[in-house]
Amino acid sequence: MDDAPSWFVSLVCLGAVYVAALCARPLAYLALCLRRPKDLHRYGSWAIVTGPTSGLGRSMAMELARRGLNLLLLDLDAANLQETSDAIKALHPVKVKSVVLDLSLVATPQGDEAMRRFKEAMEGLDVGLLVNNAAVNTPGAVYLHEADIERFVRMIRVNLWGLTEVTAAVLPRMLARGRGAIVNVGSGSTVAVPSFPLYTVYSSTKKYVAKFSKSLYVEYKSKGIDVQYQVPFYVHTRMLSSAVKAKLRPWFVATADEYTRTAARWIGNGPLCVPGAAQKLQWCLTGFVPDWAHDWYRIRLHLQHRAVTRRGGGGGTVIAGGNSRGGQAAVTPNASNNPGAVAKEIRA
Ligand SMILES: NC(=O)c1ccc[n+]([C@@H]2O[C@H](COP(=O)([O-])OP(=O)(O)OC[C@H]3O[C@@H](n4cnc5c(N)ncnc54)[C@H](OP(=O)(O)O)[C@@H]3O)[C@@H](O)[C@H]2O)c1
Repeated sequence: MDDAPSWFVSLVCLGAVYVAALCARPLAYLALCLRRPKDLHRYGSWAIVTGPTSGLGRSMAMELARRGLNLLLLDLDAANLQETSDAIKALHPVKVKSVVLDLSLVATPQGDEAMRRFKEAMEGLDVGLLVNNAAVNTPGAVYLHEADIERFVRMIRVNLWGLTEVTAAVLPRMLARGRGAIVNVGSGSTVAVPSFPLYTVYSSTKKYVAKFSKSLYVEYKSKGIDVQYQVPFYVHTRMLSSAVKAKLRPWFVATADEYTRTAARWIGNGPLCVPGAAQKLQWCLTGFVPDWAHDWYRIRLHLQHRAVTRRGGGGGTVIAGGNSRGGQAAVTPNASNNPGAVAKEIRA
């Protein structure tokens, strides 16, 4: 090495620094994995969950109740809230309150009224945890110019605007107590792949949530509030259609209960979390694929989703678009029932 030219030594040093930096990330993540889960009661005795009436939100509400936290549930349908609340109370000896809050109505007079009721419901509660879970993914796989713009506006209101308002309403209480945790549920479409064509608005709303979460993490860390962006990949819920589920390898798709059991263990541990070994593996593997290959694969796959959506419509094959009640994907008037036409659409 003594005789080696200086350019060679510099290159070796640079390479060593690069490899060390590459290794540092997984090691830091491994250190987080080995940490004991935080005792959620130290944040406070009440947790707020948005969208708790189905899928991940329902499962998370059950898991938090199993851990002994009282719950304040926010959702848009009073009957669903009542059913969920009864189901939780039948299994766990906790207090459950609920507020009807349609997040798609934020910043409207009705939304303001619901937010007022939400703030009133929080009065006197020791709120320690907020799980921003509610989201919609309708109209599913479509080109931007195809869908009714009102559906995108609704999606943006629920996924982004509603989440922001709920967080802003809860933060002052956490600040006053000097403790709290906020979990924002994101999507693998933002951290694992460079693009998510045809679900562009959905994945973009989740990108907002990622930035929002990381910035709040930095902003409030010193004030005793832990903010975390949790990233599900594929989980068996209403948000995934049966057509998507049928195409996925079963070991890559978690059940909502499997997912939330791990997700709850991670709360408060770091700004970003991909719960579950299978989901972490998917995250890791996608890192080795170049962007152009991702882009090539994604547009093909999502064009297939779009084709099935256009063909199937009411036939139960709506893809990633049937999440909320009334959440049918957009079906254009020239939707075809002909498999040949579908193949043509995919190639288009
Ligand atoms: N499942 C997956 O594979 C997957 C993948 C990536 C990310 N995620 C994320 O995980 C979270 C949960 O999704 P999920 O799969 O559990 O979907 P889900 O089963 O469709 O649940 C969505 C929940 O949000 C509620 N909601 C919908 N619109 C609302 C509104 N306007 N106001 C208030 N609440 C509303 C729904 O209420 P109703 O029941 O009354 O309609 C439901 O409780 C979402 O943030 C989603 O983006 C899921």
